[in-house]
Amino acid sequence: MIAGGVRGRMALQLVMVAMVVLLLTSLALFTLDISPSFTKVLMKMEDLEGAMKDRLSVDVVSTRHSAVDDVVVSLEQIMKAPVSLNQDDSRLIQRIRAKYLLPPSTQPYSLSSSNSDPSMGQSKQIRLILGDKVKEGGFFVECGALDGETRSNTLVFEKEYGWRGVLIEGDPKNFELVRRKNRRAWAVNGCLSTSPYPNVVMFKQSFNVGKISNLETGQNKTGYAEVQCLPLYSILLALNTTTVDYFSLDVEGAEMRVLKTIPWDKVNIKTLSVEFIHGGEGKDALRRYMEGRGYRVFSEVTHPGWLANDFIFAKKELLANRPEST
Ligand SMILES: *[C@@H]1O[C@H](CO)[C@@H](O)[C@H](O)[C@H]1NC(C)=O
Ligand SMILES: *[C@@H]1O[C@H](CO)[C@@H](O)[C@H](O)[C@H]1NC(C)=O
Repeated sequence: MIAGGVRGRMALQLVMVAMVVLLLTSLALFTLDISPSFTKVLMKMEDLEGAMKDRLSVDVVSTRHSAVDDVVVSLEQIMKAPVSLNQDDSRLIQRIRAKYLLPPSTQPYSLSSSNSDPSMGQSKQIRLILGDKVKEGGFFVECGALDGETRSNTLVFEKEYGWRGVLIEGDPKNFELVRRKNRRAWAVNGCLSTSPYPNVVMFKQSFNVGKISNLETGQNKTGYAEVQCLPLYSILLALNTTTVDYFSLDVEGAEMRVLKTIPWDKVNIKTLSVEFIHGGEGKDALRRYMEGRGYRVFSEVTHPGWLANDFIFAKKELLANRPEST
């Protein structure tokens, strides 16, 4: 009698536990908008944020999704959302190759000037650091690329020394201009992520001073475009390279945040020019950050008309036995 009562209560408790588990599971599935049949995988941004709060990693979510055909849809959503998709996630790298990398042009240049070096002095400083090595070829990254010619810091390396490289430009209008120049470099219509994962931003379109804004995405606002941001490291992996001979970074204030996404132990970036004027963190913070990564300031490039305000950084080893010059 007593034993039977205990068994009965235990059974009742088990049923209740099972019901609670069932209820929680369906709630979770409902919240994540994943129907039990796994046929629908669209996730809303809020849901992804919710999933993060619950420490449910994106990997778990997307592993579930891999059971269905339209996994691309969920990746699309993941690309937009502030979730910590690893910078070297193979799905991300493949997506960048498939959707964001425009191959170098094979057409003749369509430049508006015959000037091989429209840079405001940055490229000259980089050539001073590299010396004769500049002739051995190299790989550059330029962001923002603007129209691919105006004050381009990398054109000379491509045109005169045959370097390969990648031009990165967030503003779709500018990107169209880049495309038409027929540069012999890869091109990416996107911004560099200011966090170590992809996300989408409202990009303020303003030719040479366009930039990532703080506006909420998903609105139709004149002068703004919704733009995919990608981590620099992911773009490099998509290009099968981790060695960069020159990185030109001029993104109207987001420089420091972009630099902080870089896994410095996994890449070999030899020289950089970094605009320091718009960053809220200040010039000294930028210098200290780079010194902490093993770089030294080689020189500063400034222009009276504010067309250049850059630090030229080089890896310490490159500057060994060399005085600082300006
Ligand atoms: C955005 O708004 C403009 C006018 O304000 C309209 O002409 C355009 O079609 C809209 N675009 C989209 C994608 O809704
Ligand atoms: C990088 O390597 C992958 C895999 O080997 C290849 O499919 C792809 O075309 C390469 N991309 C570039 C830009 O070299």
